[in-house]
Amino acid sequence: MAGPGARSSGMTLRLRLVLALLVLTGPARAQPDVTPGSLPAAPEPPPIQSDSARLLPVLATHGMVSSQEALATRVGVAVLKKGGNAIDAAVAVGFALAVTLPRAGNLGGGGFMMVHRAASKETVAVDYRETAPGAATADMFLDAKGEPDKAASTRGGKAVGVPGTVRGLAEAHRRYGSGKLTLAELIAPAEKLAREGIPVESGLADSLPRASGLLGAWPSSRKIFYQGDHVLPRGATLIQTDLADTLRTIAERGPDAFYEGAIAQKIADAVQGAGGIMTAADLAAYRPEIRQPVRGTYRGYEIVSMPPPSSGGVHLIEILNVLEGYDLAKLGAGSAGALHLMAEAMKPAYADRATWLGDPSRTKVPVAGLTSKPYAATLRQSIDPERARPAAEVKAGDPLPYESDQTTHFSVVDAEGNAVSNTYTLNFSYGIGLVAEGTGVLLNNEMDDFSAKTGARNAYGLVGGEANAVAPGARPLSSMTPTFVFRDGKLYLVTGSPGGSRIITTVLQVIVNVLDFRLNLAEAVAAPRIHHQWQPDMLMVEEGVSPDTLALLRAKGHPVKVGASSGSANSVMAEDGLLAGASDPRQRGTLAEGP
Ligand code: GLY
Repeated sequence: MAGPGARSSGMTLRLRLVLALLVLTGPARAQPDVTPGSLPAAPEPPPIQSDSARLLPVLATHGMVSSQEALATRVGVAVLKKGGNAIDAAVAVGFALAVTLPRAGNLGGGGFMMVHRAASKETVAVDYRETAPGAATADMFLDAKGEPDKAASTRGGKAVGVPGTVRGLAEAHRRYGSGKLTLAELIAPAEKLAREGIPVESGLADSLPRASGLLGAWPSSRKIFYQGDHVLPRGATLIQTDLADTLRTIAERGPDAFYEGAIAQKIADAVQGAGGIMTAADLAAYRPEIRQPVRGTYRGYEIVSMPPPSSGGVHLIEILNVLEGYDLAKLGAGSAGALHLMAEAMKPAYADRATWLGDPSRTKVPVAGLTSKPYAATLRQSIDPERARPAAEVKAGDPLPYESDQTTHFSVVDAEGNAVSNTYTLNFSYGIGLVAEGTGVLLNNEMDDFSAKTGARNAYGLVGGEANAVAPGARPLSSMTPTFVFRDGKLYLVTGSPGGSRIITTVLQVIVNVLDFRLNLAEAVAAPRIHHQWQPDMLMVEEGVSPDTLALLRAKGHPVKVGASSGSANSVMAEDGLLAGASDPRQRGTLAEGP
């Protein structure tokens, strides 16, 4: 099997180009959002709705919240109604999802929040990704033979990264909230939902049976999510009293109450009891980072997305730059020609990801080079519009695990045009399945997003390199891609998605569906998606692509695999004084709603 090293001879020219561009352009610098008129005129966006549409977005004028779970969406809408801004609403949604969407919403995980402030026209990225504990070592996920130990990086206490969500949400509120609502007021709805209970229905009822293997392994989790020998059935009530108490403690004493004192000690004890190495000191030391987003353009629109330690924004822009050289609209939405070009543009981006991306505090990521138009032009030269290029050799039939309902994304826009694009996660659905006894907090397995060994794959089949090695305090490489699109300096689209390795390509296709194929937001979100991540060499296609198209793709040489649905791209669009919301129909119980 070929790892990054094996492709080095074929890639040398490309890698040299990236390095040259890095030297020429230097690392990405903070920039203001694009000023009107400074880009070529963006084509007219599609109408927000039309008579020919088969699916329609929700419309509102005073704000919009689109999330994967209806109760949490309504918490955000209530905050907007009380005069909170989009950041206040997003913080409240983040805490609420920890209760109502326990498979991905969390206090015990981490994520990324993009914040756009309408008054100053600035966009910043709040990085609240988990970190490796201080005692972490580069070889901690290798077995006695020096091979990756998947169980260690996904199932036990060693898999748990230091959680970032609580300090991340609190920091977003402190810096960017309206000042009209306290953190305690934003946490209160989540506490109520946890204490009074929520019905086991929709996505919760779908996800619990699938997670029984993880949750059932831990007595502290069984106490909450089980009734007798089985997970709570559809129609039961999920009551999370310990989680309610934890939320109340944070509300009363602030985020430090999660990272220091009794709660932190209980989390450290739970992790160590499960064989992990996290200490109370690791929790006390955790801090979110405020970062400058990564920026690009696509057909006159500005793309502003999450920088490293997520690979999402870099590779979203890299792929869009390649696609900009083709007339996708002429080929047509869902056509084999357009899908082929998208797949071919995805492959080199994922190959670059495996080599270049990691925590920017530990490795020099050539952001400017990877996101430059000249580099995209060189990538286009090796794309044949008629033939799929085989990726480097891969083991036949190597499966890519289905992990689509881990992680969750929500988008919020308020009446003033402030906006949040937030993706956060426990990594796997329900993380390692372990609730830290007495806290109600489910723990993540984000350490699996590090590369256990150069060339090894993580749970999403993603190949990782030296740049993403485990190191004390490092942040594992992510694919989360919370994104804004601006038109002529004005906020146009807020989007993002869960989906592991498929997050980047899901966000890509929402953007291409709107900007190239002129689908309205609901149609753009619902349209069938494809995904290629270089290795394994497989074109993954959702149900809904016609057999004729699949036959054409196979004839071009694509190893097509029709399979599981991908992502949950809960999005908001602003146009003509209206806000359009679309929650993703792939999951039950999603909701977009305005105040
Ligand atoms: N845990 C999935 C990601 O961060 O990409």
